[in-house]
Amino acid sequence: MRTDTRIVNSWNEWDTLQEVVVGTAENACFEPTEPGHRPQERGLSEPRPFPTGPKPRELNEKAEEELTGLVSLLESQGVTVRRPAPRDYSVPLKTPTFEVENQYCAVCPRDVMITLGNEILEATMSRRSRYFEYEAYRSLVYKYWDEDPLMTWSVAPKPSMADDMYRQDFWTWPLSKRHEEMHNFEFCVTQDEVVFDAADMARMGKDIFVQESMTTNRAGIRWITRHLEPKGFRVHPVHFPLDYFPSHIDATFIPLRAGLVLTNPERPINSGEEKLFLANDWEFVTAPQPLTGNDEMPRYCQSSKWVSINVLSISPSKIIVEEQEKPLQDLLCSLGFEVFPLPFRHVYEYGGSLHCATWDVRRDGVCEDYFP
Ligand code: NVA
Repeated sequence: MRTDTRIVNSWNEWDTLQEVVVGTAENACFEPTEPGHRPQERGLSEPRPFPTGPKPRELNEKAEEELTGLVSLLESQGVTVRRPAPRDYSVPLKTPTFEVENQYCAVCPRDVMITLGNEILEATMSRRSRYFEYEAYRSLVYKYWDEDPLMTWSVAPKPSMADDMYRQDFWTWPLSKRHEEMHNFEFCVTQDEVVFDAADMARMGKDIFVQESMTTNRAGIRWITRHLEPKGFRVHPVHFPLDYFPSHIDATFIPLRAGLVLTNPERPINSGEEKLFLANDWEFVTAPQPLTGNDEMPRYCQSSKWVSINVLSISPSKIIVEEQEKPLQDLLCSLGFEVFPLPFRHVYEYGGSLHCATWDVRRDGVCEDYFP
């Protein structure tokens, strides 16, 4: 099938990027404490309650400046860039099954939205404060829906997010219990309802790898499998047992081009799950340590130092990397990539970097079988 007239068409994380949504820090709020999330301020000798409501304007402005820099870089490479619609994230939510004091932001479209070939899928989400985050992208989805008659659009079933959907003692488990449960892959969300964030999926053509995590449970993976396999995809659950708080695969296991995955040295893939890659001559390349340690991450950032490897591919040979991550840039250069360094440290505040802050709608290319 010709793909040059399609608007929605993206089969993997690396083909040449043609159209993308870049997130916004406008109106971003602090992420609330809720059963699925216990945010903590960094660098305190005595813990204190995490702030609520809008984030300081200065933080949002600095992040927005970097996001705008990403827009300019992508446009200079011929990519069409769209932005989310403005929303007020300070509005509290009350549904029949939960209440939350404010919402979060639209910095990370990747967490919510995913393009799977010619389909746009909206994830269920796993946290209350992110329940309605899809609304920031709805006007764009309608635009694509109007312009591309072959596009399909799916919305995963919304979970109740009621108290009993969560394992509320998860946060206070002692290390021994945590260790035991991590190997059972049991986290803060129970298995009773379908729950997943889009960012737990990595797309490699016909094969979709889904991380079981704090934000994606086994029922979620079952739903994704039953939804995608009749369309010709193969869905593979993957696990990284040394990550005690796994959430979103794109700081752990990052496909860079056909046959090559960037891996996190502190989060090896579960024994046995590497076999499919090795049997198909894929290579794993180990990421260097980030230049910023966990202690130096932005004060309200809830992600680890490994957002350093949350890179964005413009094509199989061009890649955007955070400006200060020189060792990673050098590694990628040695692998034949043209590296585009870009300042993005202020976006870390919102839990992600270049891959998280984007949602690719169109890349050239078709569905390939990289694991025949
Ligand atoms: N939750 C991940 C970041 C995902 C982009 C981490 O903290 O490493």
